[in-house]
Amino acid sequence: ARHPAEPWRIKSIEPLRLTSPEERTAALSAAGYNVGLLPAELVYIDLYTDSGTSAMSDRQWAAVMLGDESYAGARSFYRFEAAVHEYYGYEEVIPTHQGRAAESILSRCLIRPGHHIPGNMYFTTTREHQELNGGTFHDVIIDEAHDPTADLPFKGNVDLTKLQQLIDKVGPEQIPYVSLAATVNMAGGQPISLANLNEVRELTHRHGIPVILDAARAVENAWFIKQREPGWSGRTVAEILREICALTDGATMSAKKDSYANIGGWLAVRDPRLAEQARNLVVVHEGLHTYGGMAGRDLEAVAQGIGESVQEDSIRTRVEQVAYLADRIAAAGVPIVRPVGGHAVCLNATDFLPHIPREQFPAQTLTCALYLDAGTRSTERGAVSAGRDPATGENRYPPLELVRLAIPRRAYTQGHMDVVADSVIRLHERRKTLRSGVEFTHEPSTLRFFQSRFRPL
Ligand code: F0G
Repeated sequence: ARHPAEPWRIKSIEPLRLTSPEERTAALSAAGYNVGLLPAELVYIDLYTDSGTSAMSDRQWAAVMLGDESYAGARSFYRFEAAVHEYYGYEEVIPTHQGRAAESILSRCLIRPGHHIPGNMYFTTTREHQELNGGTFHDVIIDEAHDPTADLPFKGNVDLTKLQQLIDKVGPEQIPYVSLAATVNMAGGQPISLANLNEVRELTHRHGIPVILDAARAVENAWFIKQREPGWSGRTVAEILREICALTDGATMSAKKDSYANIGGWLAVRDPRLAEQARNLVVVHEGLHTYGGMAGRDLEAVAQGIGESVQEDSIRTRVEQVAYLADRIAAAGVPIVRPVGGHAVCLNATDFLPHIPREQFPAQTLTCALYLDAGTRSTERGAVSAGRDPATGENRYPPLELVRLAIPRRAYTQGHMDVVADSVIRLHERRKTLRSGVEFTHEPSTLRFFQSRFRPL
């Protein structure tokens, strides 16, 4: 198998260090069997996240030098605002330092204790901010999204019956907005269709409920719509992106994903009164409303990156590189989430390590084994990430117990993908030698996966 060659060449490189198995064993133990706590220097291929880890273009670096660091009304802000407006179409644009800051501001503005927020599967930080403001998250994604083997083109779609039932049960006035992600990260990067988005729009409109988009990977979603949704193959990714946004009332954005920036984000809405409220909060928590926690140079890098992100060749090679890794792994019989998402290949840890019980965190165990084998860093996306139910304090065991191999954009070559594929396949062949899992030795109360520590059993 091959994937299309990239529409760029490499002008600048960053050396990587190769480690010995002994070094990795010592490093993993020192990191409490949480690969997130490893010094990055001891990682060879870092697939922990695709967030902020992509390679910036020479145009982005050049734009960095043009950053206007004025405190108020910097030229860079206007360029940033114009780019978001042009490509995403929202009227009111408020910069934040990254996506979760936009989520925090939006949640504080709209969520009150007792509110209910439906969404197409949870994302860790998104749900955390909803819960911190007294809201309850409700998963209204289609059932198939929780089944790693269900091969559907739009596994990120909302189940309209589930959404209607929630509205009937709690009343539309208790639902401040519907939270829609495109693509759905926790399902493995699965897209939502425009047809479904239209139906959600129609249903929520009848009840006066706004729709807020998580636009972190909406360009990847637009690419899948172009490939898979009848009637859209002749449109540009940029047009489809505008169409997705046109069906929503606002968006939170992590510019560290699609937009190829190392840091940055924004909140955008259409309602000027909500924008005013959000700007007031940004000033308290992030910085003045024309920089929102970013330096002028960061605003420039995001503005330039947005334009690059919708170029057809760029988005094609990005998604095809992910598919290349997935195809190699799947061809060897390794259980992965189907279909392959836009930003990551997700290993199905419950099928990979069926002999390790959920209570021993098979996905967390697999992230450790992958690091030890070839120095690849992945992320747990299962029970550890899901945390505890705030009401009962019990561990949540989501149906998906995954190890995510997230691919940074424009950063790694096909050679790197082969190293990862070989390692995963090798590990799968000797999976029986991984006898048991891990247990917590330290467990933080919120977003525990970032800082928790474990012991092998
Ligand atoms: N929404 C989605 C769908 C995300 O994937 C992320 C971050 C955020 C919001 C928050 O944005 O990191 O800029 O504050 N996802 C990263 C990941 C961390 O690895 O999946 P942020």
